[in-house]
Amino acid sequence: MKLLKMSVVCLCFASLFSCNQQQPAPTQTDMKYKNEVIENMMTRRSIRNYKEGAVARETMDEILNCGINAPSGMNRQSWEVRVIDNPETIARFKSLLVASNPETKAEAVEGCFRGAPTLVFVANDPSYDFSPIDCGLLSENIMLSAWSLGVGSVCLGSPIRYLAKSPEAIQMLGFSEGYVPIICIGLGYPNESPDAKPRDKAKIKYLD
Ligand SMILES: Cc1cc2nc3c(=O)[nH]c(=O)nc-3n(C[C@H](O)[C@H](O)[C@H](O)COP(=O)(O)O)c2cc1C
Repeated sequence: MKLLKMSVVCLCFASLFSCNQQQPAPTQTDMKYKNEVIENMMTRRSIRNYKEGAVARETMDEILNCGINAPSGMNRQSWEVRVIDNPETIARFKSLLVASNPETKAEAVEGCFRGAPTLVFVANDPSYDFSPIDCGLLSENIMLSAWSLGVGSVCLGSPIRYLAKSPEAIQMLGFSEGYVPIICIGLGYPNESPDAKPRDKAKIKYLD
């Protein structure tokens, strides 16, 4: 009986081993994308519907660290970043924007943040001509690293237009003298998975 049990166990191991040999681990060529970096870039989408709750500060630290590791002209890092993730602070900030933009409906001003529970504001240094590029690269690093961690994001230009009319809200962000807000990034856990928007490949041309 003991011998029978042992041979059954041996048989099981043997069949498991041969099974593994027949199904080799997936290789990179089996993936839809060449590698994980490309997959991350190609699957990121703007998210405009979020689950409740801000992104954990620990996760944000990692994301923002990726942001400031973006390239910048002469490594000037001509950006400043402010994060608002406390619902009460966000509400206070939005009410300043609403008060400063009476020509726009309050819902439109509030809605421009697309319901993102964590808001990142990026300011540039207009005295440096490549500062908008620095800020754009920082922002893309933020959005792509966020996505790699399962955090959705949306790049938001319209809050900056409302912000331009609100010295009180600008003051609340507390950027250094000379820095001007250039873009806002909304972040949070996605509650939707939108399809990719079309891209125009004709924008790319090789010169022979
Ligand atoms: C500079 C800039 C400003 C944008 N402003 C807004 C905005 O105010 N509101 C919004 O919902 N999306 C905004 N977007 C997101 C774009 O609409 C989005 O990136 C584009 O439609 C492509 O879709 P995808 O990000 O899902 O690939 C902005 C994107 C960029 C780069």
